[in-house]
Parts: sequence; C-alpha cells; structure tokens
Amino acid sequence: MKQPNMEHFYLTLLLLFVSFVTLSLFFLFYKHRSMFTASNLPPGKVGYPLIGESLEFLSSGWKGHPEKFIFDRMHKFSSHIFKTCILGEPAAVFCGPQCNKFLFSNENKLVTAWWPESVNKVFPSSLQTSSKEESKKMRKLLPQFLKPEALQRYIGIMDGLAQRHFASGWENKKEVTVFPLAKRYTFWLACRIFMSVEDPNHVAKFADPFQQLASGIISMPIDLPGTPFNKAIKASKFIRKELLEIIKQRKVDLAEGKASTTQDILSHMLTTSDENGVFMKELDIADKILGLLIGGHDTASAACTFIVKFLAELPHIYDKVYEEQIQIANSKAPGELLNWDDIQEMKYSWNVACEAMRLAPPLQGAFREALNEFIFNGFTIPKGWKLYWSANSTHKNAEYFPEPEKFDPTRFEGNGPAPFTFVPFGGGPRMCPGKEYARLEILVFMHNLVKRFKWQKLLPDEKIIVDPMPMPAKGLPVRLIPHNQP
Ligand code: HEM
Repeated sequence: MKQPNMEHFYLTLLLLFVSFVTLSLFFLFYKHRSMFTASNLPPGKVGYPLIGESLEFLSSGWKGHPEKFIFDRMHKFSSHIFKTCILGEPAAVFCGPQCNKFLFSNENKLVTAWWPESVNKVFPSSLQTSSKEESKKMRKLLPQFLKPEALQRYIGIMDGLAQRHFASGWENKKEVTVFPLAKRYTFWLACRIFMSVEDPNHVAKFADPFQQLASGIISMPIDLPGTPFNKAIKASKFIRKELLEIIKQRKVDLAEGKASTTQDILSHMLTTSDENGVFMKELDIADKILGLLIGGHDTASAACTFIVKFLAELPHIYDKVYEEQIQIANSKAPGELLNWDDIQEMKYSWNVACEAMRLAPPLQGAFREALNEFIFNGFTIPKGWKLYWSANSTHKNAEYFPEPEKFDPTRFEGNGPAPFTFVPFGGGPRMCPGKEYARLEILVFMHNLVKRFKWQKLLPDEKIIVDPMPMPAKGLPVRLIPHNQP
C-alpha cells in the first residue's frame, strides 16, 4: 500500500523542482532581456543571463589576446561603442581616443568609478563607506605623497634597495625567472617607501598573503573554503592586522621622536589632518596602505617583466638602453646613488618602457558607471550601465600606432602619440596617482639590470597570458650573461 504514496511524493517533488528551475530560468532570461530593452542602445551581443559575455571577455585574455574581444566586436558592429554583458552587468565598451577622452573628462559629471562587487567585499572599509568614497579620499591625499617633488628624495632609497635586490636575487646566478623576481623588487620597494619595512624577512611575511589577495580580488565572488575569493578575504584580514601593528608601533615611535614625520607615506598619513582638522583612523590608514600596495606592485612588476622580455628579443634596442645607462653609471662616483638628474637623462629607456606598456598594458582598462542616462555618438547609455575603456582599443590600432605589433620606442620621441591614444595609466582626474612613482621604480630597475647583464630567453616561444595582468606563462626564465664575463 505504501509504494504508490511514495511514488506520488517523488513525482510531486520532481514536478516542484522542474517548475522551480523553469521559473528561475524564465525569471533570469526575463531579467537579462529587460536590461537591454531601452531604445537606441549601442549595437552588440549580450550573451546568456548572469554570464553574459564574461567568458569570451576573460578567455581572450587567457589566450594572450585581450584585444581580440574588442576588435572582433568593433569590426562586427562597425562602431566605436558596443554593448555587452560582463560580470553580470549590462555594459558598453568605449573604444578609441574620442571615447577615452569622453570617459576621462566626464568623471563625476556623467560617469563615476566602478569596481566589481568582489572588490568591495575583499576591502570592507573600516568606515563602512563604499570603495567609491574611499578612493575619493585617497585621491585627495595621494598627490601630496606621490608628486614628483615628494618622490625625488626616494630615488636614492630605490637605488640602494635595487642594488640589494640584484645582489641577492640575480648576481652569481646563471638562470633566473624574471616575473617573480620583478614582483619581489616592486613589493620590497613599496614596503620600504610606504611604511619603512625593509627587513627581507618581514617583507616575506606579507608576500604570500599578498599574492592570494591579488589573485582573488577580481574573481568569482564565491565565499566558500578554498575558493580564490575566500582566500583573498582571509589574506586581506591578515594583512590589515599586520599593518595595524606597524601603525601602532609607528605612533609610539613618532611620539618618542624615534620616527620622522616625513620618512614615508605612513608617517605622512598619521600626521596629516583633513580640511576639518580630523586625523585618519588607524584602520582607515591600514586600508589606504593596503590599497597602495595592491595598486602599486603587480602593475609595475608586469611592466618590468615585459621590458626584460622585449630587450632579450631586440638586441639593437638593448644596446641603446645599455649605452644610455652605462653613461650615467660611469658619471657616478663609487657608491654614489642615482638622483633626480640621472632619471631625467634616461629618456630613451623611458621610451622603451612606454613601448613595452603600449604592447602589454599592465591594466587592460577600467570600468565606470553611468550616473544618469545620456546620449553618446547617437546611442543611449542608460543610468547604472557599466562603461569600460580599453587601453588595447588604441594601443593595438594601426590608425594610431602604424604596424602596431612592431616594438618601436621612437613612437614616443618628439610630440609622441596623439592625445588619448596612449593610456596605460588612464587619464583625466582618475589617472593613476602612482604614475610618477612607477616611472622611477621602473627606470631604477632598468639601470641596475642593464649595467650588470645581458640575457637570453630560455623559452623562445613562451606564451603570454592576461589574467588580469599580462604575464609570460612560465614567468620568463632567462640565462644571464654578466658584462664582466668574456
Ligand atoms: C606601471 C605601473 C602602473 C600602471 C600601468 C597603472 C595603471 C593604473 C590605471 C590604468 C588605473 C586606473 C585608472 C582608471 O580608473 O581609469 C590606476 C589606478 C590606480 N593606481 Fe596605478 N598603475 C601603476 C602603478 C601604480 C603605483 C606604483 C601606485 C601606487 C604608488 C598606483 C596606485 C593606483 C591607485 C591608488 C589607483 C586608483 C585610483 C582611483 O581609483 O582614483 N598605481 N593605475
């Protein structure tokens, strides 16, 4: 007698389940479609609910050609703007210098910065404000610490640290893997210049959690044990705790006169009040330093790595960089460190660095959000849509950079590229505040590298992946040839 009842029960359960799935799918498709019903939207594809075109967007990077996603659609829709759906959000991709100019010059008028939700979760602010508010505050504060005049006095420190880095990581080695070493260099530098932490053991304590943070920050926001997102949240908590200890100690040292108010960015933050005379809270400072360490080290290390790669592939360009750097090195007394005047002499080297960042921009682009509905190029952009500017849309475009795949530092001579075509640091009020700091650390790296070695790639056809930063798949192993070796 029991059997039919059970069958009935399971059948009902199955029907309920099927109805639930059908309704959910219907709701998802309906919601997805309804995001794209406004008239006169830009042309484009919007993919499936939730995932949209995220997979195509990300996988073109994994395959080493992030520009393919952009150019395929620009050609297909013969437009400088196309609609898509990325990270579950309706979005418009803005391509080309006019579009860059439009987004960069309408900051806080028509558009504002936007980060994926995962970023807010990994960086829960101590003040319970959104990351938008945080970055506004950060933006007011940073130029004081990162303007060229303020950075000049750090050049000697950077050079001294670079020498220690090359002595411990490169010298007396036949072969090295460049990418992890470049990361070690930029991270060590950031720890020293932002908060005077320079003991390699102390720096190493941060390095692993930082890696976890960097790789989980823009990942699927699934907070389950073992996921990159979950590891990033844990790492963020750990680092903030460590930073708080450093901050507390610094307060004591400042009070006892053992630390100076100008020795690094941390001291500056502790002793600078806002326009209302309010000082930043400890947890807030920890968040700011964390943001700087994140923004600052992976980007610059990607740039350094690609410079090494291109110089290995192009010996005639290496020779010119060497000539410039060895002249500077020869002009120094023994033990004398690099200074601001030396950096100004490194013009060719900086053109090489710029060309490397044109071909392999450390950040592929960034998002904005439409504050209100507006019309651009005849297309309607609804309020709340995400807008993406892409460095590759101009960097790899033959219209602005003839023979775009050719490495040619002379593009940056004279007036250089046309406005809004070369944008590795973005533009307008949101342009990367660390640009000048990055220029210094990259040039100091190049100086110390080429004056010591030539090098050869060990994997001639090493693949490049972009996830989300560009990097050689195996980290760029090279054979070092010291100059004093016959
Ligand atoms: C080669 C190295 C670097 C590159 C290519 C780079 C590129 C960028 C780009 C493209 C943006 C986004 C701009 C936008 O939203 O439109 C950005 C933002 C930012 N960068 Fe950099 N960056 C580099 C190094 C640094 C360094 C060394 C620091 C810190 C000292 C830094 C700190 C920041 C911060 C704090 C932001 C966020 C600014 C905001 O939201 O207003 N960056 N960077």
